Amino acid sequence: MPISKRNPFDYGGPVSGPHFAGRHDELTAVTRRLADHIGVVVTAPRRYGKSSLIKEACARLTASTPGSAIVSVNLLQTSSLAAVSGVLLKNLYHVPGGPWHRLAQVLPGFLRRVRVQPSVTFDSSGQPTFNFSPSMTLDSAVEIISDVYQLLDKIGEKHPAVLVFDEFQVVADLSSHLPGLLKGLADEHRRVSLVLSGSKHHLMESLVLSKGAPLYNMLEHVALGPLPKDDWLPFLLARARAGGSPFADESVADVVWQMSGPVPFDVQKLAYESFAQADGVISRAIVIRSVETLVRHQASDFAKTFEKLSPGQRRVLKFLAAGTTLSTGSSEFAGSAGLANATSVRKTLRALEDAELVVGRENGPVVDDPSFAAWLRLPGGNHD
Ligand SMILES: Nc1ncnc2c1ncn2[C@@H]1O[C@H](COP(=O)(O)OP(=O)(O)OP(=O)(O)O)[C@@H](O)[C@H]1O
Ligand SMILES: [Mg+2]
Repeated sequence: MPISKRNPFDYGGPVSGPHFAGRHDELTAVTRRLADHIGVVVTAPRRYGKSSLIKEACARLTASTPGSAIVSVNLLQTSSLAAVSGVLLKNLYHVPGGPWHRLAQVLPGFLRRVRVQPSVTFDSSGQPTFNFSPSMTLDSAVEIISDVYQLLDKIGEKHPAVLVFDEFQVVADLSSHLPGLLKGLADEHRRVSLVLSGSKHHLMESLVLSKGAPLYNMLEHVALGPLPKDDWLPFLLARARAGGSPFADESVADVVWQMSGPVPFDVQKLAYESFAQADGVISRAIVIRSVETLVRHQASDFAKTFEKLSPGQRRVLKFLAAGTTLSTGSSEFAGSAGLANATSVRKTLRALEDAELVVGRENGPVVDDPSFAAWLRLPGGNHD
């Protein structure tokens, strides 16, 4: 296939617009609430599409309500209070409805509105970046967050105003006081919709979802499940057709879904590889070859991960990858996986879940990454 042909599938980061499939109800629910200045918390396991849902909802909000102000920070990408403060200021500075844009001196006008002064540098496109000392205190960071809230709240008098903390499950690594302080700020600035998203359900429980959590009962909870097949198939068919290499027929798109689902990231990844390998049309043979390619690409990473596991963990993983239908609480499961009893199985599974190698699904635990599962199933493998 000529390399110039643009692949219509996208995986890796948050997607929106034509790359975004389904989630009609969730999108409507989130977009409406943001328009009405109500906060939302989005939870789901990794790579289910939390950031994509928020990105798409914000894009729709901006399209339907010009002037909407959205300030967003990803807490996994900002490992210090200084970094969080710098990103918040940078994103606030670019908000289209910010009154500082009407001033002759935009940057000084903006900086006058914040109490803790950053040092300012300029990136290659001439845009300012705001830097704080790595030893920035919690008090100073909270002053910045509070200023951001206040300026968004002012914009919120006329337009929707949204403050997004993505990957919120790691907030306590920045400061255990931050969730409680955010609750106070959110209560004070009711015209700003606070949007949180996170995986690691137990952490989100203790921060937001359960009684006694600092942000309990403030935000509408949207829990994402996998995208249903009925949303995937029309998307896969339409994207491949628009890209110029259609699926041979609907059953081939179904094979993509069967072999990679249900995690949206995995489905887009296999669709991407299948499109990349297609010569005009995506056939079933191409999809199967693409599965093998993806396994090959990651084989050495899989081997490294596998080597670090205990023998019992390895056996349980291989057993799950083989698609056992035995209940993990049964003595048959323990016996077949070479473990003493159901308690050892439970402990082993917990360790594999903590390492994000296994996830609980409707019918019990499974190997999270379908390529890893395929690698574990390789006959006569190099991983016994
Ligand atoms: N609604 C969707 N339609 C199509 N593809 C999607 C959708 N949601 C997610 N994806 C696919 O999954 C990938 C990961 O999405 P996203 O980054 O939004 O997930 P996440 O839940 O925020 O992940 P993480 O937990 O790693 O932050 C995207 O790059 C895309 O390939
Ligand atoms: Mg995300």
